[in-house]
Amino acid sequence: MYRSKIAGLGANVPENVMTNFDLEKIMDTSDEWIRERTGIQERRFVTQPCGAAELALPAVLAAIQEAKIDKADIDLIIVATITPEHLFPGTSSFLQALLEIPYAPTLDIRVQCSGFIYGLSIADQFIKTGMYENILLVGVEIQSVGLDLSTAGRDTAVLFGDGAGAVVVSRSDDDSVIASTHLFADGTHAKDLWIDAPVGYESPRITNEMLDQRRQYPSMNGRQVFKHAVTRFPEAVIAALDANGWTREGIKLVVPHQANMRITEAIAKRLDLPLEKVYSNIHRYGNTTAASIPLALYDARREGKFDKGDQLVLAAFGSGFTWSSAAVVW
Ligand code: COA
Repeated sequence: MYRSKIAGLGANVPENVMTNFDLEKIMDTSDEWIRERTGIQERRFVTQPCGAAELALPAVLAAIQEAKIDKADIDLIIVATITPEHLFPGTSSFLQALLEIPYAPTLDIRVQCSGFIYGLSIADQFIKTGMYENILLVGVEIQSVGLDLSTAGRDTAVLFGDGAGAVVVSRSDDDSVIASTHLFADGTHAKDLWIDAPVGYESPRITNEMLDQRRQYPSMNGRQVFKHAVTRFPEAVIAALDANGWTREGIKLVVPHQANMRITEAIAKRLDLPLEKVYSNIHRYGNTTAASIPLALYDARREGKFDKGDQLVLAAFGSGFTWSSAAVVW
């Protein structure tokens, strides 16, 4: 059986910075409320019409370059996003067209905040079996155009931001490896963090009445999300450690999905890890859903938080509910 590794990593965010103070001008909120409860200081919002594939492209090109492959060597494109350009086809189709690599199969996955780790697991399986050698995996979100940026939507609107991260997962011929992945879900909480409309039950799928009811915007049971996140994140991390015989002391860094700084602090506490070992860049980008882990990996590496050969645990929790982890030797 073959082994897989992350061979290249790239990131891209819109240039436009939206601070908490900018949000204060358009809704009844405050920098203090947002920072205290979430740790977020600013996020990036696109300023002109831009599709998820377009935002992802620079991140993808950087990942391909680092992996030292030609784009024609990509055997499969996986895109994790909850903010695609269209209901169908998926963002991966638009990305494949932008990359000009006809025939590479395309696969969109919808697993919300767990999308990147679920994608990593899918990529790992394809490499392990020998079916593919190089897989492009992208996490990308353009949340800003789908948020209720009025006081009515403030409980969720202040949390989310736009961004993209990409990796090339390749067959490993050295010590770098995706050592394990663990995927979990509990659909009984599907409506605790979701977008209701447009819905598939009614005809037409979207009506003026639905829009008036603001059913096209995300809605969240914040307390339920918080309560489950602080339990599920540590469980997923422990699953990764146990599967590989790794220790808390031995791992270099936990890179969690950037949901909320309070959640990150709770993860550190419950795992008995110093906060410096649980990476956070949420103050810069907010919650970028499927993009947050590759964006965090990118920033953490740039800040010198890990190096080749280090043991990393990636972990996610989010809508679905879904949660997951990956043990990676960089
Ligand atoms: N600005 C100001 N006030 C806000 C606000 C905002 N952006 N959003 C909500 N409020 C108000 C509410 O209207 C409510 O007011 P009320 O008490 O008068 O009804 C009050 O703040 C709620 O505050 P509090 O009880 O302190 O909220 P909380 O401690 O439950 O924190 C969250 C709210 C969202 C920060 C918290 O539930 C959370 O972190 N949940 C997880 C969210 C998450 O990570 N989601 C993504 C997962 S992938």
